[in-house]
Amino acid sequence: MTARRPVRSRSPKHRPVLLPAGIVACSTTLLAAPFPEPSQLPVQPTPPDPLVRFDGQRVSTAREWYQQRRPELKALFQHYMYGSWPSAPAVRATVERMDTQYFGGKATKKEVALALGPDDAPVLHLLVVVPNGRRGPAPVFVGLAFCPICALVNDPNLPLPTNWMYPGPGVRDHRATAAIRGSAVGTWSIEQTIDRGYGVAIFYNGDVEPDYPEAPEGIRAWYARHPAPASAGTTAAEGGYDWGAIAAWAWGARRVVDYLVTDKAVDARRIAVVGHSRNGKASLVAGAFDERIALVIPHQAGCGGTAPSRGTIGESVQRINTSFPHWFNAPFKQFNDQPQRLPFDQNSLIALCAPRPVLVSNATEDSWGNPDGQFEMVQGADPVYRFLKAGGLAARQMPPTNQLVASKLGFFIRPGKHSMTPEDWRAFLDFADKELKPVRPPRDR
Ligand code: GCU
Repeated sequence: MTARRPVRSRSPKHRPVLLPAGIVACSTTLLAAPFPEPSQLPVQPTPPDPLVRFDGQRVSTAREWYQQRRPELKALFQHYMYGSWPSAPAVRATVERMDTQYFGGKATKKEVALALGPDDAPVLHLLVVVPNGRRGPAPVFVGLAFCPICALVNDPNLPLPTNWMYPGPGVRDHRATAAIRGSAVGTWSIEQTIDRGYGVAIFYNGDVEPDYPEAPEGIRAWYARHPAPASAGTTAAEGGYDWGAIAAWAWGARRVVDYLVTDKAVDARRIAVVGHSRNGKASLVAGAFDERIALVIPHQAGCGGTAPSRGTIGESVQRINTSFPHWFNAPFKQFNDQPQRLPFDQNSLIALCAPRPVLVSNATEDSWGNPDGQFEMVQGADPVYRFLKAGGLAARQMPPTNQLVASKLGFFIRPGKHSMTPEDWRAFLDFADKELKPVRPPRDR
C-alpha cells in the first residue's frame, strides 16, 4: 500500500485549497481556516440545517452538496469537535496465522498485524473471519471492540496481548489474563454473522489509542513524536494534529479498510463498520469521512456520536468533556456551557454518510445515550438523503421495540440495557441484507 494523496476537486472552476491535515476544499466555499472562536458563533437553539452553508446560503444542487457543503461540514467537525488527523500512512500488513477450517470448516480465519506506520508505530491486531464456500468475495463488517481479539473467539491459539486493557472480565490492573479468552463471544456473535454469509474484521480500539489521556503508546503520541516531514508533500506543522481518541479510533478503522480492499476474500465494495458506544461514535466518524465504507452502524453511540449535542436528556457536552477529556479536541471544550453555538449537530454527521445506509440502534434502558434524541438526529439527516434522492427514514416516529426500520436511514430499538447482543446483531444483519449494496463510484463529485 502506498501513502494516499489528498483528493483534489476535479472541477477546473474550483481551485483546490489544502487545509491543515489534508482536508481539501474548494476556494469558492469560504472554507479558509481559521473558523471563528466558539464564542463568536451564533447561538442556534435547534440543530443547524445541514443543507444551509456556513455563510447562510441554502444548498441548491446535489453537486453543491458534494463539492462544497460536505467538505465544509467535514472541516467544521474537525475544527470544532474531533480534531485534525494525518492522512493515510503506508500500512504494512502481515498475516500472522491462518486457519481455513474455522468454526468446523465454515470459515477462514486470519490474524493480521497492521503496522500503522514505520519503526515503532503502534500495531493493530486484526481478526478477519470470512465464510468459506461463497461464490465471490464476502461482504465484511469492520468492528471496533473494547477487548483484544483473543476475547472474540474460543481459541487458545490467539496470543494474550500485553498492552493496556479496559477493566472487565479477565483483566487485572489493566492487563489481560488468560480468563479474557472468549469473554466477548456473545458480544460479537461472529459465528452468527458467518452463518448469514458475512465476514468480520475486528480490532481492539486500544491497539490504536489506549483510552486514557495522553497515552504515550498511542497513535496520537506517535505522530506527535514523528511530525510529517515537509518533503512528503506536507508541512512540518501538519505534525501538530489535534485529534482526540474518537478520531484516532475512526482513523484506525479506516486503516483496516486500507488493508481489506487488498484482501481478495473481501468484497471491497461492501464493507460495513460497526461499533458500540464510544466505538459507535468512532464508527460514525469513520463512515462520515470515508466513502469506501458502504454501510455504517453506530450502535448506542450517544453524546458525541448520534445523540444531539443540544440534547437535554442523558450525557451533555460538558459531562463528556469532563469525564473523557481526551476524546475530542480542545475547541470542543469551549462548547461545554454553550452547545447551542456549535455550527452543526450530530444529524449533520449522519448526513455526511449520504447516500450510504446508516443504522442507528438503541436500547430502551440506555437513557444516558438519549434514544429519543438519536431518533431526532436521524430525522434531521433525512432531508439530506431526500435532497440527494437517496431514500431516507421510513418512519415518522420512534418504532416499537424490536421492529427494525430498514430504510436507507435505519433505526432499531430493543428492550434492555447498554450492551451489544446477538439480538442487536440480528438487526444489523437484517439491515445489511437489505441495504449493504456495493458502494457506487461517486457520480456528482
Ligand atoms: C460512558 C460515556 C459514553 C460512552 C460510554 C461507552 O458512559 O459517558 O459517552 O458512550 O461510556 O463507551 O460505553
